[in-house]
Amino acid sequence: GYSGFIFDLDGVIVDTAKYHYLAWRKTAQSLGFDLSLAQNENLKGVSRERSLRLILEWGQTQIDEDTFKTLMEQKNTDYLAHIAQMGPGDVLPKVQETLLFLKGAGAKIALGSASKNARLILDKMKLSPLFDAIVDGNDVTAPKPDPEVFLTAAQHLGVPAEHCVVFEDAKAGVTAANSGGMYSVGIGKKEDLGHAHTVFRDFNEMPQVFLKGLMEA
Ligand code: G6P
Ligand code: MG
Repeated sequence: GYSGFIFDLDGVIVDTAKYHYLAWRKTAQSLGFDLSLAQNENLKGVSRERSLRLILEWGQTQIDEDTFKTLMEQKNTDYLAHIAQMGPGDVLPKVQETLLFLKGAGAKIALGSASKNARLILDKMKLSPLFDAIVDGNDVTAPKPDPEVFLTAAQHLGVPAEHCVVFEDAKAGVTAANSGGMYSVGIGKKEDLGHAHTVFRDFNEMPQVFLKGLMEA
């Protein structure tokens, strides 16, 4: 059965995906173009640096390295201003219950996020104590869709990748989980996450028997 459960952060545990979008949209607009929601789907799970490279490509804009650094810092400042207002009440529905249920069943739980702000956010949500391992954007060199972040998380848990389940809202994250040999659960729309082993709209829609089934598989 599956005994390691790895959670992405943004868009899975907290609805910060919208704040990443707002902040990047502001960056794009400051350069004279817009960022669509469809384009934003392709930024989910993507590192800060690679996100800006993609945005510049889409806007067919070239900037020097200093400006690049400034824009990344500005984006993060804007993003952090959005999340400054967040607290435990912003944890997405049924996430805490799911974590407690898995923990109670003896499963190991990890965070596998591309974000360098992950520890800060998890602390703000008062969820850090529920995690046996936290792997984030500060710990890995190859960003999603490379499986490094999830493989490292599995290693920290001491659970083989084939016995790990990954919860992901990002296309790149589902790809990463699949290529790491893990069971991928997409959180979001089937249209976006068709390559996941299973997709649920959110944790409200995920019955406990589904989780039990995975542990007993
Ligand atoms: C997550 C989000 C991405 C974000 C990345 C880096 O994967 O889905 O939208 O770009 O983390 O986040 P950071 O907080 O380090 O800028
Ligand atoms: Mg995400």
